[in-house]
Amino acid sequence: MNTKRIVLFASGSGSNVENIVNYFSDKTHVTVTAVLTNKRDAKVLDRCNRLNISGLFFNKHAFAKSDCVLNILKTLNPDLIVLAGFLWKIPNSIIEAFPDKIINIHPALLPKYGGKGMYGMNVHQAVKVNNETETGITIHMVNSNYDEGAIIHQARTPVLPTDSAEDIANKVHQLEYEHFPKVIDKLLS
Ligand code: GAR
Repeated sequence: MNTKRIVLFASGSGSNVENIVNYFSDKTHVTVTAVLTNKRDAKVLDRCNRLNISGLFFNKHAFAKSDCVLNILKTLNPDLIVLAGFLWKIPNSIIEAFPDKIINIHPALLPKYGGKGMYGMNVHQAVKVNNETETGITIHMVNSNYDEGAIIHQARTPVLPTDSAEDIANKVHQLEYEHFPKVIDKLLS
């Protein structure tokens, strides 16, 4: 069988990374080749150690001012690049080298609450302040504008007036854990 390779990018905790790695751990048709992070002390690197996955740190120069990360990606030759809580904009050189092969998860129902500065708790606080009655997740293709690539999948959850921003974050994370690995699996099948 032709095993498909995925490379994950993350900037922080990496709970989605861990969930994706666990989902594919007993499957032979997809393998997580490596996790790349732009934060030297990101918790995701601890998870990589625990999960026996290659975790690589890169800095801004390697990512956006040279071809270093691009060349690493070319060597890894992924079938899919998955942004799982990654907060830097992807340089055009990488987007052009991997057309239709980069996806992102956003913790809201795009096009609402997208764009620069809209990530993590900032999104959930904005959802709370605006008294939204629902929120959710969006999995989408990555293009050169933040959060504007074609939408692949959305899932929704109600927001109660009593929900704190942390409660909203928890609900959204649960949706991410349920849907993200399955969408990746489907894209690669
Ligand atoms: C996730 O909720 C993801 O949707 C969000 O960061 C969180 C990372 O959590 N991504 C963005 O906000 C991108 N704009 P995790 O590190 O625990 O997986």
